[in-house]
Amino acid sequence: MDLLICPDDLKSSNYPRKVSYQKMAQIKSRTFHFVIIFLLIYEVKTQISDESEFLVDRSKTGLTHVPKDLSLKTTTLDISQNNISEIQSSDVLSLSKLRVLILSHNRIQYLDISVFKFNQELEHLDLSHNQLRTISCHPIRNFKHLDFSFNAFDALPICKEFGNLSQLKFLGLSATQLQKSSVQPIAHLNISQVLLVLGDSYGAKVEPDSLQDLNTRSLHVVFPTKKEFHFILNVSVSTAVNLELSNIKCVLHDNECYFLDVLLELQKKPRLSSLTLNNIETTWSTLLSIIQIAWHSNMDSFSISNVRLQGQFGFGDFGDSDTSLKALSIQQVISDVFSISQSIIYRTFSNMKIQNLTVSGTRMLHMVCPSQVSPFLYLDFSNNLLTDTVFNNCKTLTALKTLSLKMNQLKQLANIILMTKEMKSLQQLDISQNSLRYDEYENTCSWAESLLSLNMSSNTLTDSVFRCLPPKVKVLDLHNNRITNIPKDVTSLESLQELNVAFNSLADLPGCGTFRSLSALIIDHNSISHPTTDFFQSCQEMRSVKAGNNPFQCTCELREFIKNMDQVSREVVWDWPDSYKCHYPESHKGILLKDFHVSPLSCNTTLLIVTIVTTVLVLAASVTFLCWYFDLPWYVRMICQWTQTRRRARNVPLEELQRNLQFHAFISYSGHDSAWVKNELLPNLEKENLQICLHERNFVPGKSIVENIITCIEKSYKSIFVLSPNFIQSEWCHYELYFAHHNLFHAAFDNLILVLLEPIPQYSIPHSYHKLKSLMEQRTYLKWPTEKSKHALFWANLRAAINVNLRNEVKETNDTSS
Ligand SMILES: *[C@@H]1O[C@H](CO)[C@@H](O)[C@H](O)[C@H]1NC(C)=O
Ligand SMILES: *[C@@H]1O[C@H](CO)[C@@H](O)[C@H](O)[C@H]1NC(C)=O
Repeated sequence: MDLLICPDDLKSSNYPRKVSYQKMAQIKSRTFHFVIIFLLIYEVKTQISDESEFLVDRSKTGLTHVPKDLSLKTTTLDISQNNISEIQSSDVLSLSKLRVLILSHNRIQYLDISVFKFNQELEHLDLSHNQLRTISCHPIRNFKHLDFSFNAFDALPICKEFGNLSQLKFLGLSATQLQKSSVQPIAHLNISQVLLVLGDSYGAKVEPDSLQDLNTRSLHVVFPTKKEFHFILNVSVSTAVNLELSNIKCVLHDNECYFLDVLLELQKKPRLSSLTLNNIETTWSTLLSIIQIAWHSNMDSFSISNVRLQGQFGFGDFGDSDTSLKALSIQQVISDVFSISQSIIYRTFSNMKIQNLTVSGTRMLHMVCPSQVSPFLYLDFSNNLLTDTVFNNCKTLTALKTLSLKMNQLKQLANIILMTKEMKSLQQLDISQNSLRYDEYENTCSWAESLLSLNMSSNTLTDSVFRCLPPKVKVLDLHNNRITNIPKDVTSLESLQELNVAFNSLADLPGCGTFRSLSALIIDHNSISHPTTDFFQSCQEMRSVKAGNNPFQCTCELREFIKNMDQVSREVVWDWPDSYKCHYPESHKGILLKDFHVSPLSCNTTLLIVTIVTTVLVLAASVTFLCWYFDLPWYVRMICQWTQTRRRARNVPLEELQRNLQFHAFISYSGHDSAWVKNELLPNLEKENLQICLHERNFVPGKSIVENIITCIEKSYKSIFVLSPNFIQSEWCHYELYFAHHNLFHAAFDNLILVLLEPIPQYSIPHSYHKLKSLMEQRTYLKWPTEKSKHALFWANLRAAINVNLRNEVKETNDTSS
């Protein structure tokens, strides 16, 4: 079955359906995966926000059965547009809270209404666009909305139990046969809206007065699409105030088209106030007859849309004649005929004595000025081919309040400004979706003073448009133009409340200096990189802001703005935080502004300098303190010496080791220091198996002390001198003599180890001891530390100086020599 155009008022008449339709439309465009994530979030959200509403949308998910994993709290379930072929009581049994069930566009052939007997709350059931042939009737709940339209029923699916549905507001039916008796069970109900879809079937039997007993305010009858209109069906339901008829094909033989008879029948009905015809294929002459019938009826409003015209052009002028019509709407007309005398059409329309006229989607090129003062209040000429000459210098549209010229061929804004000059009552003007521009040099600015709402969106206007705006305008829509800057010197628009400048190239938020009353600003999709921060201060009246999707530059300057945005409530900035992302720098691209944090330090130069200086000072102070506290220089010196000795040891030539040596070291000291040598030095060296030569211990009788010492030196790999003031005074001269004699200071320098046991003041060294002085100055001595903690390092250093690694070689040479 063909899909029919669903009338607007039908969609909006039942709120749950409308709400979920919008939600669904948003969701369906995303991928399946996303839908699931969204739903999870959405379910959680709704659960938190409102216990009484729990919406689940599983439409278009390829389901073949009602899903089993539904929350027991589900109140609205949308499983439309799937492949579900049956519904059983176990499917919905547990959903005791279910109020709205949308099952449209599935493959259900049979319905047993008793499956819902446990769903006490269910009041909205949509089973439209399935393949239902039969429903089995049972006493049922109090439904408010029941939709069985666009199914495969033969007879009307009206059970006698429907007679108890006293709350029923909407009933959607479909059938190929109509019988007066089948409507009987619901004749006493007062239903707001009935949709009746007549199926394509060649054997259709329709009793002409089948619908007479229907009791509804609004009736919408959808006729079969495939055939010429051949019904003699009286659609003039006595209670109906609004009537809509869809799918009317009267092309071949005008006099065999019963449709005009159907309309003539309607003409007499005093209650009928509005008639809408949809999807019509007919000739010019039939169209003219249809409009004329409406014109001479008692109706208030007549609409006709989606019209396809054939045959010869013919149009009569009836616009002058009296009518009770207040509103006429003609939308979406396509004609096969090209030679149309449009002037008669313009004249007819412009001279109509009605309040509302819509002529839209008709490729109309022009519209003339009414010849007398016109009662028009509302004119909608959108989606035509009108040019700037429309209503040029027209002084008869003085009552006109609303004019829409959107989607036409308008070019110069100056012409339109001039056009409004004579429209003394004009409050709303829509000239969006044209090619309007406003040149710099224009100096006419004669907007109708009465204008309150002006829609100039989707044109090619630039900054200059702000030089001429209606002085009292409250709502100004300029989105999708070429504005780069809102000049500061614009004439102040004291009344402006809503400004939409989205999709332009603005670089900053406007202040509210010139727009004192501004309460809603839409400025998303522009080029704002670092918005001014005083925006919220200057715009005290602001109730709603949308400024997302701009290329924000996430630097220090943005922090204030982010802080402001975070502070104002969500109701004010209604696209925060999701539409606000960093665009620059590259490292932050895509991050939500909400999550962009930069330390106060890196944004404040003074603070930065102060911090660096403080840090350096603190560091220096701590280093100094540590040096002092732990005697760091001493450690450094010791470690330096240690590494030097190790390096030197590696370079010791082999032949040197093969000298005839017996000892690792010879120790010389003053008798005053012998306690230290015996208790500290010797045990520590001999612990490491070092052979030590002491001149008193290894004394060779018969030799002088000096000779003994010299023997000791010659048999030892190293010579350790324990230096102290005592030593200088008593012992040094022995060695000075020896060294001077053997000229050993240079050759044997490596073999000397000086241990400074106690500090030796410079002055206490006799003048003649040059060598000692220079050795001391070169600091090539190991200093005995008084602190116990440093002793380990001292011994390690000393052992390294003696070079314990050579022990084996020394031993070997000892062995061979003995
Ligand atoms: C005329 O149009 C206005 C604005 O759309 C609307 O509010 C009013 O109901 C219409 N009048 C009739 C009789 O349809
Ligand atoms: C202006 O017209 C556009 C479409 O042409 C529409 O989307 C927009 O909502 C209108 N603005 C106002 C404020 O009505």
